[in-house]
Amino acid sequence: MIAPAPAPRLTATPAGVPLGALDLIADRKARNFVLQIGERRFHGFVVRLGERVRGYVDRCPHAGLPLAQKLDDYMTTDGAHIACGWHGALFKPDTGLCVGGPCPGGRLTPWPVEVRDGMIFTGMEPVR
Ligand code: FES
Repeated sequence: MIAPAPAPRLTATPAGVPLGALDLIADRKARNFVLQIGERRFHGFVVRLGERVRGYVDRCPHAGLPLAQKLDDYMTTDGAHIACGWHGALFKPDTGLCVGGPCPGGRLTPWPVEVRDGMIFTGMEPVR
């Protein structure tokens, strides 16, 4: 018997889904989130920049792989960039623009997230 192919990953989520307290993420660090929505899953990560957050779909524009090879390991040691663990692409944390590695000028897909009263929620529009 052949198992059915898995459903493709989602690249967006409904607004207003609580993800947890902002303090779950240290400044200039990131955290992985997987949301089950119906039969499909969304894989993303949230970067904390002080009291602000940025979210991205966990898919590198270079080869389409999830960026982190270890859980929550999305940032360079100095916290200056998001780094892909496969071929070394570097991205600006506030825009997702690739500034180094094999996909210069490429971008991470934004995942709208926002902070309200110290809690992170999925948002309506990309925050730029
Ligand atoms: S898959 Fe990310 S740099 Fe190649």
